[in-house]
Amino acid sequence: MKNPFRKKKISAYEAIHEAHKIAFGPLIFQAARTMRDLGILQQLEQGGTEGVSAQTIADNLELSLYGVETLLESGLSCDVAEMTDDGLFTLSKIGHFLLNDTMTQINMDYNHYVNYQGMFYLDEAIKAGKPAGLKVFGKQWETLYQALPHLPEKVKNSWYCFDHFYSDSAYPDSLPIIFRNQPRTMLDIGTNIGKFTLLAAEYNPDIEITMVDLPDQLQNAVNHVESAGLSSRVQPLAMDLLDEGNGFPHGIDIYWLSQFLSCFGKQEIISILRRIAEAMDVNSTVYILETCWDRQRHVTSAYSLVNTSLYFTALASGNSKMYNSQELQACIDAAGLTLSQTYDNLGLCHTLFECRK
Ligand SMILES: C[S@@+](CC[C@H](N)C(=O)[O-])C[C@H]1O[C@@H](n2cnc3c(N)ncnc32)[C@H](O)[C@@H]1O
Repeated sequence: MKNPFRKKKISAYEAIHEAHKIAFGPLIFQAARTMRDLGILQQLEQGGTEGVSAQTIADNLELSLYGVETLLESGLSCDVAEMTDDGLFTLSKIGHFLLNDTMTQINMDYNHYVNYQGMFYLDEAIKAGKPAGLKVFGKQWETLYQALPHLPEKVKNSWYCFDHFYSDSAYPDSLPIIFRNQPRTMLDIGTNIGKFTLLAAEYNPDIEITMVDLPDQLQNAVNHVESAGLSSRVQPLAMDLLDEGNGFPHGIDIYWLSQFLSCFGKQEIISILRRIAEAMDVNSTVYILETCWDRQRHVTSAYSLVNTSLYFTALASGNSKMYNSQELQACIDAAGLTLSQTYDNLGLCHTLFECRK
């Protein structure tokens, strides 16, 4: 297995500084986000290389000098802002990405709105094997997926933006692969709002698709299919796949699972894949699209993935994670399926596992 997190040689002096970055991490995160959301990073960008004073920023944004200075000083400490010899402030390269890079913005919003408060309960979640952090959203739901359609708009939107940003990037690369053998039927398992179903139905005018998800979630997908005028070829099938009594329709050509298995613990994954295997015939193929931290081109991707696992622990399910490819392969084997091909580097960071019975 490829290890993206190689041991780094650093001095004890550097190590204690890094340890302090972690100790103050939550405060730094909020300072950087606040500077972004209050428009301070934007002001720094407009100030260019010459720089801008804290007073000018405070006046332009109608904020107190105290507040702006406090944030800027924290910004200096984490290299988001820089200071000229004249005491003016400029935007650093890191600040540039926080302000302008879509992926960084989406990750920051997701961590602020979805994860930040619930992460306080990480230790409780680890001990109980339950998403203890979900309680910050009021009711204690069993999993985030039951809660999702009912969460506050900001939380829901940042979750959707995060989920779609990554899977959307891999869909165009996946379509030619899965349609290679002229499938006629497909099951989109964990369809969410039906995005992939819509793309697949437009890509191939003959494909018939069944969208599977939890009942509340599925309603969004049904609405989207109706608006797109695709109801004659696309139908919903509401089911909770944690209920082992729920089996799958038989003899479907493609069983499609995108960013789905990471929502479950290993035994649950094996159970889901076994139930699919039972439903498959000789022409059926299972496609699993996942983001494996051991198959990334960039260390930043691996870093984001292993830390997204903490969301699964504290908020989503308490027992799931971003798996590495060996863990998924073991589940595929345990379910009695055979991995026939693996496609890496689809979209930003996905791997597609093609499995047969
Ligand atoms: C991370 S989203 C992935 C959505 C989409 N397939 C994609 O590629 O972006 C996982 C989906 O699985 C659904 N899901 C989670 N737990 C489920 C369960 N127990 N039964 C059925 N669907 C479930 C969620 O509602 C959600 O729509």
